[in-house]
Amino acid sequence: MLEHKYITETPLKHRQNYAQFFTPENVAKLMAKWLLKDQPKNILDPAFGLGVFYEQINKINPNIHLTGYEIDSHIRTYYHSNNYPNLTIINSDYLQSDIKGYDGIICNPPYMRFQKFLNRHEILPILEKKLDKKLTGYANIASIFLIKAIQELNDKGRLTFLLPFEFFNTGYGTEIKQILVEQNLLKQIVIFNNEKDIFPEVTTTICLLFCQKNGQNEPIKITTIQNNQEINNLDKIENYYQYTLEKSELPSEQKWTPIITSLSQNITIPKDFCQVSMYGKFTRGIATGANDFFALTKSQIMELELGENNVSKCITKSPLIRKFVFTEDDFQELSNQNKSVYCLNVKDENQPSVINYLKQGEKLGLHDRYLTKNRKPWYKIEIRQPAPILFGVFNRGRIKVIRNYSNAINFTCFHGFYPNVFGTENLDKLFVYFLSEQGQSIIKSNKRSYGNNLDKLEPGDLNNCFCPNLKQLNLIDNEQVLEVIELAKTNEKKAILMSSKITELFFK
Ligand SMILES: C[S@@+](CC[C@H](N)C(=O)[O-])C[C@H]1O[C@@H](n2cnc3c(N)ncnc32)[C@H](O)[C@@H]1O
Repeated sequence: MLEHKYITETPLKHRQNYAQFFTPENVAKLMAKWLLKDQPKNILDPAFGLGVFYEQINKINPNIHLTGYEIDSHIRTYYHSNNYPNLTIINSDYLQSDIKGYDGIICNPPYMRFQKFLNRHEILPILEKKLDKKLTGYANIASIFLIKAIQELNDKGRLTFLLPFEFFNTGYGTEIKQILVEQNLLKQIVIFNNEKDIFPEVTTTICLLFCQKNGQNEPIKITTIQNNQEINNLDKIENYYQYTLEKSELPSEQKWTPIITSLSQNITIPKDFCQVSMYGKFTRGIATGANDFFALTKSQIMELELGENNVSKCITKSPLIRKFVFTEDDFQELSNQNKSVYCLNVKDENQPSVINYLKQGEKLGLHDRYLTKNRKPWYKIEIRQPAPILFGVFNRGRIKVIRNYSNAINFTCFHGFYPNVFGTENLDKLFVYFLSEQGQSIIKSNKRSYGNNLDKLEPGDLNNCFCPNLKQLNLIDNEQVLEVIELAKTNEKKAILMSSKITELFFK
């Protein structure tokens, strides 16, 4: 409840500046229960926020003392009183604290780039000395929270952290993974597959780490959780897991996401695969804030006398594209059928017909909507180039992948792929991989389920997906790729079959 009040009253920018994303109660309870198993004498929460961990711990055992650090003076005004039993809140930067000796540490650390941290130049040398480590490569504060907390944990102590799953693929994560595994700290990883249900606010896959400083080399438990109901029915997380991995199966220099996601799929992500971001970037489509006003048909453009200069070719709705390949001819066909394949893109704002149409929009209050009122002027849409590969944002079953050869830009119904030099050279090959059954199931491991078989993909999910590396793509025969693309225009099933056959090469 306090969280709702806080979120409604606090500007988003402030929350972003402090990386304030709150742990849901049921997840906090799961972490707290595990933490309290060996009757710790004292507990530390390095990033207290609104105190969700304290609340849960206090409900289970009100006699344990918790120390919480919180840097933000604004959030601190939301604590009801200064008189919570067994709680000490320290109103300062955890990274500058000089503490140790905790039996239990529980944390949802701020996940933000170190460059954004104001005091970094001051605190970095002190921290490096204290932790006896060079921290220059540690691009994210969360990783420093984890390293520091491990040092402050007593022998036999327990530590649980909530982190984005991608943490295990980052360069700066390598050393931490090494510490976690080689010091036999890591006992269990819990991955939430359906974050929309559990973490409505976040756009990355979240996981929990459970560590204990008991020096015992035990198999690492891997748990995947699908929805809130599953969490609510859980009693002891340590007894709930689908897989176990030996230390040797989690090498620190390798990305852990493919290793772990492979477990729950009938496909193993080849370990030399790279991330899609190697070839470019997925970006969400143009958000107009008033699609009905911005999307236009050919006849509307003529009736309104807007002229070619003030519109752009645009895919405004997902169902407009039915085939895997979308060409300029397909676009013309849709245009001739008077479908909404243009969007208002004002270049000449002094043209009387444009002024008239904008006035119509203003009469409807469209200039005063959340998105439009933050734009100057309200009708200026983002500048985008046509994206050569498009991915459906919402999908049922197969993920909609389109090779776009037209000059049309797109609304938010699709995410567009904008290739870099490597991507530009390999667009058709990447498309073949995305179309294949293997590519589809690897991409799907990053999706968010919305229930009813409806899945959503965010641009970040797609950028983090795994795909063949440059050397592997070079092994694909160009002629075969062109064949798939020709097939995709007329016979989708055959195109999928052929692309899957080509892709088999990487899974031997
Ligand atoms: C991701 S939130 C988690 C809040 C709460 N523990 C929860 O799980 O709901 C991180 C919190 O740490 C605070 N924070 C950020 N940087 C900090 C720092 N250097 N020292 C202490 N607290 C910090 C933020 O203001 C925010 O409230």
